[in-house]
Amino acid sequence: MMQISDLPTAYAMVHLPAKVALAVTQKPDGQFNLITIEWFMRTSIQPPMFAISIGHTRYSHDCLEETRFFNLVFPSPMQKALLSLCGSNSGRDIDKFTAGEVKHIPGKLHKLPILTDAIVNFECEVVSQVRSGDHTIYVGQVHYSWQDKEKELFFYPEQG
Ligand SMILES: Cc1cc2nc3c(=O)[nH]c(=O)nc-3n(C[C@H](O)[C@H](O)[C@H](O)COP(=O)(O)O)c2cc1C
Repeated sequence: MMQISDLPTAYAMVHLPAKVALAVTQKPDGQFNLITIEWFMRTSIQPPMFAISIGHTRYSHDCLEETRFFNLVFPSPMQKALLSLCGSNSGRDIDKFTAGEVKHIPGKLHKLPILTDAIVNFECEVVSQVRSGDHTIYVGQVHYSWQDKEKELFFYPEQG
């Protein structure tokens, strides 16, 4: 075990296996965007809440500042390519729903899309936020949940 002196480099190097998710947001023009995220967590049981941490440079950050809803989506293995697409392209440049041929139905809360190839979708309303360095942590209260019990969770990087 050696001490790491350069903290920013240390952050960049850390790439432990982790769960990944997608967050759906609404663009200012009314269309929808998708972002791949690793920095998310449950923050309350009652009411149910999730926090997502979104970088200030992301288009998703602009979207969340404008429209205070997001869907947190837990992907299935069949969405591996979509996770890559949404983690390496900005919604400023492409429509990720079209590029990723994303199957979806309208949600109930703010009509943000529910991804039907995923295992779980949580429809969240932003109830608070905190600046965290170069990211903002958005805390969302879950209003509606959707689940496909036949599908398995996808882990990143792939294990086993
Ligand atoms: C595995 C993986 C995990 C990521 N986790 C996050 C995250 O937690 N928060 C974040 O802001 N960006 C994260 N990103 C980067 C964004 O997904 C990426 O910058 C994306 O292109 C932003 O899209 P947008 O500009 O449409 O919002 C991650 C990317 C990958 C590949």
